[in-house]
Amino acid sequence: MLQTGLIGTGYWGPNIAKSFELTGKAAMRWFCDVDTTRLNKIIEKYPHANSTTEVDRMLEDPALDAVAISTPAVTHYELTRKALEAGKHVLVEKPITLTSKDALQLIAFAQDKHKILMVGHVFEYNFTVRALKNLIDSGELGEIHYLNFERTNLGPVRTDVNALWDLASHDVSIMCYILDGSPMNVTARGQAFLNSDLEDAVFATFTFANGVIAHVNASWLNPRKVREITAVGSKKMAIWNDLDQQNPIQIYDKRVEWPSEIPDTFHGYKTAVVNGGVYIPHIQHNQPLLAECEHFFKCIEQECQPQTNGYSGLRVVLALEAATASMKNQSKIATVKMRDMEAHLESLIQQHPMGDKEILQQFVENVHEHLSVDPTPSMEPSSKGASAGGK
Ligand SMILES: NC(=O)c1ccc[n+]([C@@H]2O[C@H](COP(=O)([O-])OP(=O)(O)OC[C@H]3O[C@@H](n4cnc5c(N)ncnc54)[C@H](O)[C@@H]3O)[C@@H](O)[C@H]2O)c1
Repeated sequence: MLQTGLIGTGYWGPNIAKSFELTGKAAMRWFCDVDTTRLNKIIEKYPHANSTTEVDRMLEDPALDAVAISTPAVTHYELTRKALEAGKHVLVEKPITLTSKDALQLIAFAQDKHKILMVGHVFEYNFTVRALKNLIDSGELGEIHYLNFERTNLGPVRTDVNALWDLASHDVSIMCYILDGSPMNVTARGQAFLNSDLEDAVFATFTFANGVIAHVNASWLNPRKVREITAVGSKKMAIWNDLDQQNPIQIYDKRVEWPSEIPDTFHGYKTAVVNGGVYIPHIQHNQPLLAECEHFFKCIEQECQPQTNGYSGLRVVLALEAATASMKNQSKIATVKMRDMEAHLESLIQQHPMGDKEILQQFVENVHEHLSVDPTPSMEPSSKGASAGGK
């Protein structure tokens, strides 16, 4: 039985603790929070566990194997670094860090310590999201033209990060997962209403190398809770609705089939529209957070890389950094350079022994310097439409 700890016992953390024990693979040994009221509340449910407001006290316990970090995003880097340095496996909530440089550091620390570093991109463990990916990969929708993500609600309002980093981080992880890659560039706009520094509503459009565009509308200042993805393909279209427990995916057998010449009459247009109706595939549900925690423990046991490992967290951060650059630069297109960064980092890791901290520091800085997001590039040419596989 793995001995586990949780740092951050606010809204989300207790769900992780519960899922940890539900896996049957772990026992909660420690809880840490700077807020003693929250700490006292959670310890009532786990009387066998220890509690502390000092993270170091928890991390110095040699019997502790792994920790989950579910604190505000601004604290993720520091707490994850400490946990890895103390020799613990880490599951850190999204976003992994607020800069790609910090994410790289954590990847390197985890590698150095031979510990698992996993990011809580929970939607990648959701069977309904996987079903949407399978639908795209199978070619049933045809060539993917675009994806539209909506993630709105009234609250919860964050005070450490904006709606891009808090909400759209989920959508960026989903789009990278279902399209098997990182976006090439992004144009974004956000508006702050409640807090002058933090955008409550963000509209971002990411472009992938195959020409697929993925638009995100993320806002915590909206009357309606929406969690939707629309996938528009050349053959069919699909809508994923996370709030519809019965029918999370609906497939629309709809498209426009132009004749050899574009019709110039309304009647001509009508005859070009194919409407084969809507159908609902049967999809097996799961508990995504439980699946995420099971995967974390499996990776610890088998010493393998998690699906949402540090690199996966990094590619989300790089896309969000580019979106931030665009927002700060009047929505000009900003490039995301993930592919170069991954390749560069891999080769540097192979070249340098990770034991030497100075070399490690240097290589991380080099990578960041070489591959940081350029806020003012021009739009690269793209061919319209993706293959059926969405590659
Ligand atoms: N995967 C998801 O669907 C999902 C959902 C909600 C939140 N989250 C993520 O979980 C994290 C926490 O979000 P939340 O909504 O639970 O926030 P929250 O504010 O409700 O809870 C955060 C807790 O961390 C504690 N804390 C802050 N700094 C700390 C420190 N240095 N050491 C120890 N404890 C500290 C706070 O006292 C608080 O109890 C965020 O990163 C958020 O993005 C993920």
